[in-house]
Amino acid sequence: MYTLGIDVGSASSKCVILKDGKEIVVGEAIQVGTGSTGPKRVLEICLEKSGLQLEDMAEIVATGYGRFSLDFTKSQISEISCHAKGINFLVPTARTIIDIGGQDAKAISLDENGRVKQFFMNDKCAAGTGRFLDVMSKVLEVKLNEMQEYDSRSKHAASVSSTCTVFAESEVISQLSKGLSKEDIIAGVHQSVASKVSGLVYRASAIDDVVMCGGVAKNAGVVRAMERVLQKKITVAPTPQITGAIGAALFAYEQANK
Ligand SMILES: Nc1ncnc2c1ncn2[C@@H]1O[C@H](COP(=O)(O)OP(=O)(O)O)[C@@H](O)[C@H]1O
Ligand SMILES: [Mg+2]
Repeated sequence: MYTLGIDVGSASSKCVILKDGKEIVVGEAIQVGTGSTGPKRVLEICLEKSGLQLEDMAEIVATGYGRFSLDFTKSQISEISCHAKGINFLVPTARTIIDIGGQDAKAISLDENGRVKQFFMNDKCAAGTGRFLDVMSKVLEVKLNEMQEYDSRSKHAASVSSTCTVFAESEVISQLSKGLSKEDIIAGVHQSVASKVSGLVYRASAIDDVVMCGGVAKNAGVVRAMERVLQKKITVAPTPQITGAIGAALFAYEQANK
């Protein structure tokens, strides 16, 4: 039996096809989010790669910010539940999840059965989200996937003290003009994201094991900064950007078996 999970985020669209509720047949993320052709395209890529048709899916569950915008499923489940489900499947020992996406960040605590105990979210402010990093990546002219390497070469992280993304952008431009290295500025940017997100993690009373997911978890610089701030070892979820879609496909499997 095949089930499909689709996670329509603000920054990217993710799709997973699962076989018998346990085997990932295909999982894809494209960097085009809701409000565009992203969901349809990622769906087509997954069907093509797997050689399956939409009709082969016993059930489809949508999650993410844009989950109500799809015409091929009426089943929607929140991102919080889907990330928890997906992470519990991938890393059963996880008790705290940090998901940093394109326009929000979440800290979720789980009980020993992998069920959501409580969660805290920042979706009001770009600081501490992927958007903050996207803005800095443009200003610094360093690609997102190269920021971790710059960070690892830094000797003294610059202080990025502005809590507002717009002010932090000016701060970074001023640091560049003063001759600070991109390495040190990027380390400071990562530190700033970690400080901001740590507030949510403390409120969720983080306990081990801490697992990170979302697109920003692909940036090892942010992961290291989070580890320093929390003074905890962090596991990056395998395929961190598609954990919500995996959870959605698992829920679809449960629904198909009802
Ligand atoms: N290869 C990469 N390296 C570093 N950061 C990345 C990479 N790909 C995506 N990101 C970051 O992940 C963010 C998107 O995360 P994602 O979980 O896909 O968001 P959403 O679920 O809100 O659509 C982007 O804003 C970007 O900062
Ligand atoms: Mg997301």
